[in-house]
Amino acid sequence: MPRQLFVTTALPYANGHFHIGHIMEYIQADIWVRFQRMQGHTVHFVCADDAHGAPIMIAAEKAGKTPQAFVAEIAAGRKPYLDGFHIGFDNWHSTDGPENHELAQDIYRRLRKEGLIFTRQIEQFFDPVKGMFLPDRYIKGECPKCGAKDQYGDSCEVCGAVYGPTELKNPYSALSGATPVMKSSEHHFFQLSSSRCLDFLKDWTQDGKLQSEVANKVREWFAVDEAGHGGLGDWDISRDAPYFGIEIPDAPGKYFYVWLDAPVGYLASLKNWFDKGGAKAKYGEARSFDEFIADPAVEQYHFIGKDITYFHTLFWPAMLKFSGRKLPNNVFVHGFITVSGEKMSKSRGTGISPLRYLELGMNAEWLRYYIAAKLNARVEDIDFNPDDFVTRVNSDLIGKYVNIASRAAGFIAKRFDGRLSGDLGAEGDALVSALSDARESVAALYEQREYGKALREIMLLADRVNEYVDQHKPWELAKNPEHAAALHHACSTCIEAFRLLTVYLKPVLPALARQVEAFLRIEPLRFADAAQRLGAQAIGSYQHLMQRVDTKQLDALFEPPAPAAPEQASPGGEEIAPVITIDDFAKIDLRIAKIVDAEHVEGSDKLLRLTLDVGEGRTRNVFSGIKSAYKPEELVGKFTVMVANLAPRKMKFGLSEGMVLAASHADEKANPGLYVLEPWPGATPGMRVR
Ligand code: 2FM
Ligand code: ZN
Repeated sequence: MPRQLFVTTALPYANGHFHIGHIMEYIQADIWVRFQRMQGHTVHFVCADDAHGAPIMIAAEKAGKTPQAFVAEIAAGRKPYLDGFHIGFDNWHSTDGPENHELAQDIYRRLRKEGLIFTRQIEQFFDPVKGMFLPDRYIKGECPKCGAKDQYGDSCEVCGAVYGPTELKNPYSALSGATPVMKSSEHHFFQLSSSRCLDFLKDWTQDGKLQSEVANKVREWFAVDEAGHGGLGDWDISRDAPYFGIEIPDAPGKYFYVWLDAPVGYLASLKNWFDKGGAKAKYGEARSFDEFIADPAVEQYHFIGKDITYFHTLFWPAMLKFSGRKLPNNVFVHGFITVSGEKMSKSRGTGISPLRYLELGMNAEWLRYYIAAKLNARVEDIDFNPDDFVTRVNSDLIGKYVNIASRAAGFIAKRFDGRLSGDLGAEGDALVSALSDARESVAALYEQREYGKALREIMLLADRVNEYVDQHKPWELAKNPEHAAALHHACSTCIEAFRLLTVYLKPVLPALARQVEAFLRIEPLRFADAAQRLGAQAIGSYQHLMQRVDTKQLDALFEPPAPAAPEQASPGGEEIAPVITIDDFAKIDLRIAKIVDAEHVEGSDKLLRLTLDVGEGRTRNVFSGIKSAYKPEELVGKFTVMVANLAPRKMKFGLSEGMVLAASHADEKANPGLYVLEPWPGATPGMRVR
């Protein structure tokens, strides 16, 4: 029976771009999802931006934007990373979407009905200048133990003492510098310490499904010492306005703490995917979101980092349980990724930038392979080591795997008209059978997320294929026409073995597998195809599948980005042009133009054809080199500025009657980006710019 799976990764805060830690988690989950699909199971794989909370609200304010606009900008930058690393989420949504508001409020109402919500007055630091309660990390002061200045409200970076924000000496607000005052307000709590919750969680976390390290950690959280300290406390789930979040029903001015609505975002993204018809179109899913998520046969899994275990193994299952919803079947916890042994900061990431990796033209599947080779099912940290990276990729991936095909394919094309032999000879047959027999053990390792072990097993199989090649020496056989049959057997064996290895590697190397499928002229590979043989069929011509890593690329990856050139010297990358008089300037007639139409220009990869209204009672035709930066539909209806008295120019595609103004850096390669000028609202076509 095909399984039905709902899989998520942790929702990243929408206040920064992805770092290597995010990409590692997405790769881990993506491999598992692809593996499940190759087994014939249906997987809905979703994620979203974690949009709410004080840090995002404050960052948006600093940037002079609304929180909505701020998170939208971050969201707009996600795609190149996800596409670039072949991360195949079905849906990407936001915790600020309407689905999440609705679901979070619904869950809250049910918890309240269950009697698990109560309110209590609490005293907290309040910034009288900002008019808001201060989260602990925005309160600074002198350490109560050692007196060190400028320490955060929770612990001292100098002496390591741990304390509460009210213990700081001479506290001040990190936002305004003002001295905070104590102020009381009513907070809403989820009664995690109730015996109902405790009984449920002890059972849910200790029944053997969680990784053993995770289950042990959770047991520590449950433990109460002789003095009655420790154990689960009730959870403060509310924050006072101003807060960027979801309003608490029937409690004006109160919002859910971001960690209450964040995991609900998993469901919200899935609902959004169902509601917009994605699940139906892609997987033929006929049911609604509500029907799907109520089906006990549907399995729910969350991939997360170890730092957010508490939220996912205690709060989240308890919220789901007592609001009468499906519980996660499991939470898969991974460790952190260090780079050359160096710890990563949650906000800044590490020394390697995933985007730079892609921009340098490094192959995403090298990283997928390397990370997979290091991953296991435990909560261990892994290290990205540049030398190790080069060795693994070049010796395993290229040396052991890709080379098998490149060595055999030429002979099949040249000597056998591109056709494989159905007969592999006794040794070839035995080799291929051995590879095929490994399918269940390889599959079991993927299922258990033991990717490192899976890849080691696959590389041992590749070693056997290479031994076979070394024994049969196709290049020797090729010299003697009498050995044509043996050559055909040997090369067909290699191709068949290569196909089987590709089945096993496909969850890790999806793009490479697609190339192999095209080369072999076969349907998309599934795990079950490892039980079949190709037979005497024609294959396509071999195209080089993958380059070796060049150590120079790694050097470039680790090079600190060139410091921005001092602005005064050459703003925008070029000197200010020689001085002109006002009369010189007056010669250029700049006018407000409305873009009434925009379209692609056949045969040009740079130009868009714009139809502009400059208030002349006719329109103008202008070719503009902005295709790299704008889609035609983004431009139509907008206003811009044009040079209206530029001599018309006859171009290959027609007459251009002017020029649209756009800003760019002098060195477009190093500083890409092209920005068409837009006047402030109110300007109308034909107005002169002076
Ligand atoms: O730790 C984080 O980055 C959080 N934004 C993770 C949230 S996971 C889920 F609960 F939304
Ligand atoms: Zn101290």
